[in-house]
Amino acid sequence: MMLGSRLATAGGARQWGEGARGTEPRRLGYLFEGGGELELHSDTLIRLRGEPESLALGGGVGDCGREVGYDCGMSRRSLRDRRVLVTGASSGIGRALAVELARHGAELVLVARRADRLGEVADEIARLGRRAVCVVGDATEEETRRRAIAAARDDLGGLDVLINNAGVAAHGRFSEASPGRLRPIFELNFFAPVELIREALPLLREGRQPLIVNVGSILGERACPHKSEYCASKFALHGFSQAVRPELARLGIDVLVVAPGPTESEHFDALLEGTGELPWGDPHRTSAETVGKLIVRAIARKRKLLVVGLRSRLWLMLDRCAPGLVEWLLRRYG
Ligand SMILES: NC(=O)c1ccc[n+]([C@@H]2O[C@H](COP(=O)([O-])OP(=O)(O)OC[C@H]3O[C@@H](n4cnc5c(N)ncnc54)[C@H](OP(=O)(O)O)[C@@H]3O)[C@@H](O)[C@H]2O)c1
Repeated sequence: MMLGSRLATAGGARQWGEGARGTEPRRLGYLFEGGGELELHSDTLIRLRGEPESLALGGGVGDCGREVGYDCGMSRRSLRDRRVLVTGASSGIGRALAVELARHGAELVLVARRADRLGEVADEIARLGRRAVCVVGDATEEETRRRAIAAARDDLGGLDVLINNAGVAAHGRFSEASPGRLRPIFELNFFAPVELIREALPLLREGRQPLIVNVGSILGERACPHKSEYCASKFALHGFSQAVRPELARLGIDVLVVAPGPTESEHFDALLEGTGELPWGDPHRTSAETVGKLIVRAIARKRKLLVVGLRSRLWLMLDRCAPGLVEWLLRRYG
């Protein structure tokens, strides 16, 4: 319950706070000269309003938050009757996300290679009273991408949200890696999503509140040893998303980047090379269902970046504040 509200002056900016009387404020804000506003929530949500330049804070500040976005004050995005294409929908995050989207009223095109697993997801979605069309195929192949877009157009009548989720990794030092593992990782994690976006643009331009969601990784924001090719592919996807966001905004298409931390899924069983064991041991993993719910929430709230998991957010914050310390910590595992 918001009972108290106060204003103070901090370094030229007017500070305000809101929270239960007699406690630390749950929301804290700074009103900057020139109209900008920075808002901090106790649950680490950071929100900037106004021109970020006018806040003179630099780009890194917002990256520490769970959900980061320039809130334009526009309405939330509805998912009811929205036509959504999800790659990698047969397991893990993609599967959980597809089911969660259906719960929110979306109709789906599901893409993956395993027909039986994809069929199970479609059945679950049908039990929720929503439609799901399966496209079985390899997302790195142009023909699969064409069929997926055709399914959205012909079976669902268009496309409102494209979710590039299919991905693969490999573990082990770069110096010991087989040369053959670099390109397949980039084919699926980078070239396939970028080419699918190219193919989807004409449909998305005609969509309702169109959106592209690229599922990257926390390792696309801060790399770590033993996963060099994977980190590089996710950095490429994050960078591409950042680059095209202003271009696509002109066409009315939004871009959300999702950066999950370690998640319970088949990801570590499907490695191209190496085992799921890493020198720093088994990290805490978030359930795929939780990640799916958080992605749906970020979609509805029109976020630009979703960093999943408290540990991941703290890790990123530490890297932004003390990059030398993080480098030193990681050197132990080199
Ligand atoms: N799990 C984590 O800790 C974690 C952390 C950060 C980011 N991520 C990212 O999250 C995304 C989802 O991964 P996940 O954790 O849910 O792993 P997952 O359970 O292994 O799911 C991967 C999905 O991608 C599909 N896929 C793999 N290769 C494909 C191909 N060539 N063509 C089409 N589909 C393909 C798989 O289905 P088929 O085998 O049936 O084709 C599966 O549905 C990935 O981009 C991953 O990099 C995962």
